[in-house]
Amino acid sequence: MKTELLTAAETKRAGEILRSGGLVAFPTETVYGLGADARNADAVRRIFAAKGRPADNPLIVHIARMEQLDELVTAVPKKAKALMERFWSGPLTLIFDKSDLVPDVTSGGLRTVAVRMPSHPVARELLLAADCPVAAPSANLSGRPSPTTFAHVRADMEGRIEGIIDGGSCEVGVESTVLDVRGDTPWLLRPGGITKEMIEEIVGEVRCQFAVSEEGKPSAPGMKYRHYAPKAPLTVVRGSFDGYLKTLHGKIGILVTDEEEYGEEYVVQRLGSDPNEQAMRLFSCLRAFDDAGVTEIAAKDVGEDGISLAVRNRLYKAAGNRVITYDKD
Ligand code: TXA
Ligand code: MG
Repeated sequence: MKTELLTAAETKRAGEILRSGGLVAFPTETVYGLGADARNADAVRRIFAAKGRPADNPLIVHIARMEQLDELVTAVPKKAKALMERFWSGPLTLIFDKSDLVPDVTSGGLRTVAVRMPSHPVARELLLAADCPVAAPSANLSGRPSPTTFAHVRADMEGRIEGIIDGGSCEVGVESTVLDVRGDTPWLLRPGGITKEMIEEIVGEVRCQFAVSEEGKPSAPGMKYRHYAPKAPLTVVRGSFDGYLKTLHGKIGILVTDEEEYGEEYVVQRLGSDPNEQAMRLFSCLRAFDDAGVTEIAAKDVGEDGISLAVRNRLYKAAGNRVITYDKD
């Protein structure tokens, strides 16, 4: 398939592609999305095929106008209203009970639907041009790090979809916060750009459920899959980082937030010291290790306040939860 490479000024053309059942990758403030008309089951099925994504992992539906929400859901809880007022448009996805307009393939067979209103101007223009709700997972091949640049999307999707819009680099860099507000106490299913602290300021206590729930069932269905992974095995290191490096052999990639010097034998990727910058750079750094062909990656651990919780969550997933504490120098 020939993929049309579109500029940010060509959202009208991209909207036509979506309306006719095609797939278009587009920039959002978080990461690039791979969009299809959320109401069109055949189009949405093609998203799963293009990504190689398991069919029971539900998609987020993107909207540009508040009225679009009413068609997609059967009820809007009070807490959801307060959060939407404060944080939409922006990187917050909310879970609602779904209406019949949402096909099962879009919601991964669930009776709920995830909805978000992106703030990126190109995403908004595209949604208005398409004039339909747009289902869009991150525009990466399943299992690869989410794309935060046009080049990342081309590397994964060119030849597999009808169009890609070039919108430059994504500002937030990690995917949206996913929150289930249907019950009394909201559940945070995926940490992201709208932090737990910011949400608690509006609606009070929030419980975290990123990994596996008490019944052993993954809460956000996407959480059970290997995600964000670079090709080489990655280990998150606490304690003596330099001591741990001495135990490694081969072409070693190291991922750090500091300015320290490391030997020339290492492939070094720096996230920077500012948490927002770390979020913005994380997926690019992971892809850079793939391009450099490293055989193993060691990463220094990050914090868990504010957006760092999202960075840590993605980093641990990239590591397949291999987090070690190394004592020897
Ligand atoms: O920032 C983002 O959210 C990006 C951009 C493109 O908007 N999209 C994104 O989509 O990250 P995706 O498909 O990579 O991640 C969607 C997450 C998955 O963890 C999925 O399981 C969860 O949202 N999700 C979707 N629908 C759900 C539902 N009904 N209930 C619980 N979790 C849901
Ligand atoms: Mg994804």
